Order: sequence, then structure tokens, then C-alpha cells
Amino acid sequence: MPLTGVESWLEEQERFDALRQRALAKGGARLADLAYANAWDGPPEAVREALRKAAASEGALDLQYTPYGGQTVARRVAARELAEVTGVPFGFRDVLLTAGAMAALSLLLRMSLPGRVLIPTPTWLDHPLYAAMQRHEPVLVPLADDFSLDVDALRDALATTEELRAVILTCPGNPTGHVFREAELRALAAALEDAGRPLLISDECHRDYLFGGTPFLSPAAFYANTAVVYSYGKRFLVQGQRLGYAALHPDAPEAGARKVLLKRLARAGGYGMPTSLMQRALPDLVKIDPARAAIEARRERTREALEALGLRVVGEATMFLYVEVGDDWAVTEALADRGVLVLPGAIFHHRGWLRLTCSATDAMLARGVEALAEVLA
Ligand SMILES: Cc1ncc(COP(=O)(O)O)c(C=O)c1O
Repeated sequence: MPLTGVESWLEEQERFDALRQRALAKGGARLADLAYANAWDGPPEAVREALRKAAASEGALDLQYTPYGGQTVARRVAARELAEVTGVPFGFRDVLLTAGAMAALSLLLRMSLPGRVLIPTPTWLDHPLYAAMQRHEPVLVPLADDFSLDVDALRDALATTEELRAVILTCPGNPTGHVFREAELRALAAALEDAGRPLLISDECHRDYLFGGTPFLSPAAFYANTAVVYSYGKRFLVQGQRLGYAALHPDAPEAGARKVLLKRLARAGGYGMPTSLMQRALPDLVKIDPARAAIEARRERTREALEALGLRVVGEATMFLYVEVGDDWAVTEALADRGVLVLPGAIFHHRGWLRLTCSATDAMLARGVEALAEVLA
């Protein structure tokens, strides 16, 4: 049954799904899965403990429906953190809690009538899919060769795109791991101001994983018509426990009316609400240091091993490594034949690169590097 308009955005993913099935059938439990960001070592024990505590709570309504937009206590926790990270005084009413970042993105894209959405690429796989699902036409604008923002290309696209509804930027970049600098974000803000102040959706799911001392800067600090998207799944390595948010900048145009609209959409859509369990656990969860140190150590070891093979590896952020390999699909398929799963750049609307996740185990990553050396030899 066709879902008109979104099929073309699913082609590369479905090709990967078929490859995954083949690889699973062949490799079974021995598969080195470096594709999606699942944490193969599981979440830190303190995270499990916070979830157990929330589940053990005995109030009659503790596990029942929560208000549209989320429980006030959890919204306050999210707003306080966001205000600290961005320097923008987000309050709890600016934050709509959702079932992960996926629901937040869909709701934000549903706020406007169908039009066009500009997306600097490579980008997270489902950004164009969600735009298409909300009847927008995704317009992909390549990032610069070093994956920084190509402000001239973006200005050209802004000037020539009619019925522009939003721009989606992944900050830091996924799959690229690029951390946007102040000069880039100021240039972006100026370009958006000149283009009539369209909504900027800043997808900040990976902002907790910054390495090498580069500070995280949110576009919200430079541009008021920003909606921040975030996910706690990545931070606490519990991606199946769905909690994230969409937060509208307090000084965004028509902020009051748009917040009402977002809540109505959450209600009318019938999807997107997070579980009460995750909301109850949040005040305890945010006291836990994210699992950054373990990911960083693995990331550095794997990067060194890949660079020793003479490969170009980029990124100062995220739990991923992005590696230039030539024909991304051919290398992905050859790796799958050897029991190693990675994501080809094509999934991220880009070609010639692979993404490996350092949320996999050390042993899986070591096998991945070994197999890549064989394939490229
Ligand atoms: C950039 C980005 N946005 C959104 C998501 C979806 O996040 P969630 O699982 O919280 O819905 C992901 C997950 O990988 C991501 O990397």
C-alpha cells in the first residue's frame, strides 16, 4: 500500500534493512553491529536504578496518563537544563515533552501548512522523511567539504526556495560529528534574518557527546525563531525508553500561539506523548553523569585504528565516527558479508562515507576495523 510522497525517502533505509536481515541470518549472534546507536553494553547501572525507583513508586496515579505537554516537574527539569546549555531563559511552558526526538520533530513540522523544508546534508536519516510525511518537500543543501555550514549555498537556497516552512540543522552534526562554531551560527542567524526569519529546528540529540574541549553552542543563542529538539535516550543510553522534547525559544514570533498549537497537535495526533515512567525518573536521571567517558575512550581507540589504515575520519562530537571509504554501499555490503554492519553515507543523504557507532562493544569495534582493513585492501 503506497504512502504517497514518502516512499522515495525510505528506499536506502529499506535496502539497509534487507541487508541487515541477510547479515543476521548468516552471522547470527556473532554479528558486529556498528549501525544504529544501541548501547550493546547496556545503560549505566545508575540509570537502571533510577528507572527501578520510578517503577517502584506506589502512588495510585504514578503510572497513569500525564498532561499533554508533559508533567510540570519533568518539564521544569528539562527547561532548567536547556536554559543552562543555551543561555536562553527557557521556562517549563516553552518545553513540550515528547516520545523521543522523533515525535518532537514530527510535531514541529506539522505546525505549518505544506511547503518546503531546507535541510543541510548529510543529516540524520529521517529528517527528510518526516518533512515529506507532513506533506513538505524536503530541499537538501550540501554542507561544505569539511561538513561545516556552507553559508553561501544556504543563502542561495533560502533566496530561491518558495513557501519555506523550516530549516533543520543537526547540532552537533550526525553523522558528521561537526560542532558548529560561533562564527558559523552567527552567519546562519544573519542568513535566516535576511530570508524573513523562518523557523530553525535545531536537533541537539547529541549535544552531550562533545570531545576534545570544544564547547557546545546552540543556534538558539543567536536566533530567536529556533525550536530545540532533544532526546534523553542518547544521553542515558536508553534509546527505547522514549523521552525527548521540542522547546520553542521564549522570544520566537507568536511564541504563545505556537505553544498552544504544539500542544493541540500532540493531542490531535494521538502520538508523541512520553511515558509517565520516564517523566517520573527524569529528576533522578539528570543527576547521573552521562556515559561519555566510556564512549570517548572507545571512539579514540577506534579512530586511531582507522587512521592507521590511512582513512580519513571526521568529527569532534557524537558517539559515531564518520569515515571516508569511496563506494559506501559496496563497502557496506562487503562488510555485511563478513558479519559487520555499518551504515552507508547514502542513509544520511550523502555518498562515499560510512558511519560506525561507538556504542557497540570494544570487541565489535575491533572486528569492524579488521573487516574494513580486509575489504579496503
Ligand atoms: C540527530 C537525531 N535526531 C533524532 C533522533 C531520534 O531520537 P529519539 O530516539 O529520541 O526519537 C536521533 C536518533 O538517532 C538522532 O540521531
